[in-house]
Amino acid sequence: MQQKIDQAIKDFSSELILTKTPNDVLDLKSRYIGKTGVISEILKGIKDASIEIKRSLGPLANAAKEQIESLSAERIEILETETINTKLSAEKVDLSARLGIWDKTLIHGGVHPTHQVLRELEDIFLSMGFEVLDGPHIEDDYHNFEALNIPATHPARDMQDTFWFANKKNLLRTHTSTIQIRGMKERKPPFRFVAPGKVFRCERTDATHEMVFHQLEGMMVGKDINVGHLIYFMKTLLKEIFKKDMEVRLRPGHFPFVEPGFELDIRWKKPDPKKPSERYSGWLELLPCVLVHPNVLKAWGIDPSQNSGFAFGLGLDRLVMVKHGIEVVRHFHRGDLRFLSQFANY
Ligand code: PHE
Repeated sequence: MQQKIDQAIKDFSSELILTKTPNDVLDLKSRYIGKTGVISEILKGIKDASIEIKRSLGPLANAAKEQIESLSAERIEILETETINTKLSAEKVDLSARLGIWDKTLIHGGVHPTHQVLRELEDIFLSMGFEVLDGPHIEDDYHNFEALNIPATHPARDMQDTFWFANKKNLLRTHTSTIQIRGMKERKPPFRFVAPGKVFRCERTDATHEMVFHQLEGMMVGKDINVGHLIYFMKTLLKEIFKKDMEVRLRPGHFPFVEPGFELDIRWKKPDPKKPSERYSGWLELLPCVLVHPNVLKAWGIDPSQNSGFAFGLGLDRLVMVKHGIEVVRHFHRGDLRFLSQFANY
């Protein structure tokens, strides 16, 4: 009898593996342990056996039933998990579905050409031991003008007409030189930092002027900092950006917070609007670079007999224009994908 029961369990197990749904399992289970199931039939077959045999069979049959019950339950769990998994993978939300349809024309976001150069510049200066500082777009008259030796009556203010707030105290910064002041306030020489960012001027816009543009301010203060250092850093910067040595020249330039002041020009091949296929060579004014006025140092407790410094204010948009041969600055703000995708960097 024991043998018959063992055989029944073996048969059950091999059939169980073939079940595909929980219902199959339930059907199979009832075929074995239901009222007319295999096990019951086995038991019925011994109805004429002795009482002792019947007694000993009771627990056997019960154990077999329990085993079948638990095997069935296990199998049902496996099948249910499988069902859930297949359902999950079938109903998965495929976020890349659009890729499948549009992969040839799909437009990814990219870093704006100005910001590409800005990041490149940050890396160059970081590698030369400069800090990268940030400052607020909304400034006060003091940081934007007064502290830079440009008092209210100074004609230099006219060159930087800006957007004032109704309180007449705050304005959108006209240059990143504000961060010279903020940087000097918090540091003791020697120090060197750059500060890139947006600046705002109430400009009449044309091919090379915009109301919002970008500058990268730079400043280095320490013992015996001189024009030689200034030229060295400027040439290194240009070489890294243009990937070749650039010919430069310095012309005198004036800003109230500097002494002496220079404008740095680079030699470049400028497109001739009348003959677009030809390029003529000329000098392009790229950035003012200067030694810091001793009074400005003094104002921040830096002794000008012990320290000197240089500063520069790079017009970032112009640099990008030269680097990529872009003729109209307005393209930068239009968000026109025909323009931007040319600089895609993905
Ligand atoms: N802040 C000046 C401007 O925007 C440029 C400048 C920066 C000049 C640093 C000298 C030194 O016009």
